[in-house]
Order: sequence, then structure tokens, then C-alpha cells
Amino acid sequence: MQSEPSPKSREPAPATARDVAGFGLFWPGKAAAFAEAALPPRSTLVARTPNAAAAHSVIAGDNLEALRLLRPQLAKAVRLVYIDPPYNAGAEYLYADTFHTATGDGRRHSRWLDLMAPRLVLTRELLRSDGVLFVSIGDHELAHLRLLCDEVFGEENFVACVPRIAKRTSNKGTHFAPSKDYLLAYARDLRQLPPFHDVIDRDYEKRFRGKDERGRFATVGLYQNALDPRPNQRYWIACPDGSLAIPPGETFPDALEDGAFVTPRSQKDRVWRWSHQSYRERRELLVWKKSKRSPLLAPGGGASPWNVYTKYYLEDRLRTGLRPRDFLDGLTNDQGTAELKALGLDDCFPFAKPVGLVQRLLQWIAAKDAVVLDYFAGSGTTAHAVLAENAADGGTRRFVLVQDGAPTGRTDFATIADLTIERIARAKARLDAERAPRPGEPREFAVFDVRPD
Ligand SMILES: C[S@@+](CC[C@H](N)C(=O)[O-])C[C@H]1O[C@@H](n2cnc3c(N)ncnc32)[C@H](O)[C@@H]1O
Repeated sequence: MQSEPSPKSREPAPATARDVAGFGLFWPGKAAAFAEAALPPRSTLVARTPNAAAAHSVIAGDNLEALRLLRPQLAKAVRLVYIDPPYNAGAEYLYADTFHTATGDGRRHSRWLDLMAPRLVLTRELLRSDGVLFVSIGDHELAHLRLLCDEVFGEENFVACVPRIAKRTSNKGTHFAPSKDYLLAYARDLRQLPPFHDVIDRDYEKRFRGKDERGRFATVGLYQNALDPRPNQRYWIACPDGSLAIPPGETFPDALEDGAFVTPRSQKDRVWRWSHQSYRERRELLVWKKSKRSPLLAPGGGASPWNVYTKYYLEDRLRTGLRPRDFLDGLTNDQGTAELKALGLDDCFPFAKPVGLVQRLLQWIAAKDAVVLDYFAGSGTTAHAVLAENAADGGTRRFVLVQDGAPTGRTDFATIADLTIERIARAKARLDAERAPRPGEPREFAVFDVRPD
């Protein structure tokens, strides 16, 4: 698969619309790499287990052939693709992570792009119109991957580049201790990708300490220091004892009455979050709290004894959902290692991603019946996440995983695919032991081999 491209394929033939326009990413062999996606499969999927019709599948073999073979069955059917390809970072423990020659010339990136280009083209074909791709990637290939995805998916379908804190304790590196990687996300069609939802967990719910006739609420200051002055947002607010309060500043409304406003004259004149019109319409959402350290001013410029807050309700947040932040913390690599260890698979696989990372993606897309594809399966984290998330929320998501048969040199797991399969079996057994599967809950997985014709 990583064979040298023929001299012909080194010629800069146009591969994509961007090439025709003369703008974009170029590497020797690009046209040949894109052409790979259109080739018919030269192998067959052969069931290794008797349950070929099981809900989930694991395919042992090269992922380019597997994607070609999956095309008839999965075209426009996949809601979420998560892949974690080699980062090309020069580490080589169990699987090839380095795609360059000893001289370190431009081939370093070319060979990696040869690997990714045809697979991404086929990924796009398999995604539903509301489908999304997430790729874990490090700094070595982030820039190239982004340009490549811009070509394959269209720049307009870029969703986000989400940094993830991957480790905290490393002191390696010359200037910085590398601690993060990224999740690059592209939609099949951004206009059809529903907004993402973050799950509202117990910790978040704890913020809603207040309660009134409408339900549980939390409060947030109506004055925020970071707000730049804007017209219509500097006005007096009447407090419960009849006194007036206004954000810090030097300019005050002429009239000493509730709602009287003034246009800020300089950066020093700070403002409320709401315009005075909103304030009049939504006054029932206000909460006043006495505070000795209130930043607000009273008439005459002295400190106000009050601070002013607005309520927001748990019920509203549950209905509209939370937008996830575009960075990830609390999902570090050591969790992935610990999860393998907990299944009795210590020292089997380096850099397994935490199950929670893939569960987070499943929660973001909020499709309980999603078909989920991961064709750089490694230790099978994605399958584990799908099973765990189905168990947690009653979903019927199905996974399709692909992992090649790279030899491990070990006696217990001869190939990485063997390890993938064993990990999924152990994760499933663990979940089954915790709770019997619900009727209809997809737990069984079939194994297939990519057999050359
Ligand atoms: C970074 S690891 C994925 C780790 C995985 N996310 C986990 O949590 O365990 C990349 C995996 O892709 C596999 N791989 C690389 N090239 C492949 C190919 N052409 N076909 C199938 N698998 C491949 C490697 O063997 C390796 O297991």
C-alpha cells in the first residue's frame, strides 16, 4: 500500500477542482493517490464468524480495500466517521507511524498524504448528508490534513479544529512540552449537519441552585467587565431598596430614574449585557444580591451595595442543549491506557484513545441510531464507546471498524486486528456483566477478513 509511486504519477496532473484553479495542496503523486479511490476492489469480504448479519462488524485488512468493499453497502449511510490515523510523528512502536525516508525530504508528508487522500475521498462517499468526520491528528500533519480535507470536503464544510489536552506530565520537547493533539471535523454538508449538543451532566446541573415557580435556575452577572461599551446598554437599574445602580464609568444618565440611559463616551463607561429595551421586557429575570464588593456605582459615583444578576433556567438548557466548547480537557491518553489495563490488556497497544473521547463525539451528534465507522481502529476504542453509549442511553448505534493485520511480534495477539477483536469482546463481556442487554440492544459483532481475489 505504501509502494513508491510510479514516475508517471509524480507529474503534477490536476486531481481536484482546486488543482485546476491552481490553488491548494500539491505533492508528487497526488493525482495517482486520488485515482486510487475510484479503483474497484480487488478482494472480497469473507466472514470469519458465523454471525455475519450481526449489528456490528470488525474488518481485518487494509482499510483502503475495506472502504472500497463497503461502498455498495454503506454509501451515504454513515452518520459519524471517527479516525485516528498515524500522526507521522516518527514514533514506531507497534504500527508504522513514520512515512518518510531517512533523508527526511518532502517524501515525509507525501507518503502520508498518499495514505490519506483516497481514504478521505471514499469517506465522503460513505457519509450521509448530515454526516460528519472527526480525525484525531497531531501537529506534524495538521496543516496538510486541513488543506487535504478542504479539497475533499470543500472548505465550506469545515466544522472545527478542536484541541485536546492529551497529556499533562510530559517534560519532553525542546521549547514546549507537547501536550495536545486535535480533532479536525468536516461535515459532508455543513448546512445539513444538526447543531452539536453537549450532555448536561450532574456537575453542570449543580449550578442551578435557585428555584422559583418556573423551576431551577442559575444566575449570571448582568454587568460583565469584558463587555465593550455599546449604545443603549448604560442605564440605571432600580434595586429592591429603591436605590439605583449602574456599571462603572464617568458618564451618567441625566434623569435619576429606573431605565434612564446614556450613551457611553469612552472605554471607561462600562455597560450591562442587555440593552435598556431588553431590560424593560425581561425584568422578571433579574435577581439582586447585596455585596460589599459590588463593582456597580450608585448616583454620585459611590459604590452601590447591590449587584445585579439574571436568571437562566435548567429546563431551557435541557431543551436547547449546550453547545460544546471547541477544546477538550479531561480526556487524556493515560485514561485510554488505564481502560485497556482494566480489561487485562496492559502493554498491548500504545496511545489508545480514551473511550470517553469517542463517547463525547457520539453525544455531540445526538443520533442514537448512528452508523459509526472507524477504519484506523487500533485497540478498538470506538467499538467500546459505541457499546458503552448504547448501554447508557438505550441507543441502537452500530459500529464498523477496520484494522489491518500488521504483525505485533507477540504470541498472545499475532496481529493488531487480533488485539482489536479481543478488546471488543472483553469490553462487551464487561458491559454484559454489568447489565443484561436490553431486548434489541445491538451487542453482537461479526468479524470479516479482506481476502485478495
Ligand atoms: C493511532 S492508531 C489508532 C488508535 C485507536 N484510535 C485506539 O484508540 O486504539 C492507528 C491504527 O491504524 C492502523 N492502520 C494504519 N494503516 C492502516 C491501514 N492501511 N489499514 C488498516 N489499519 C491501518 C494501525 O495499525 C493502528 O492500529
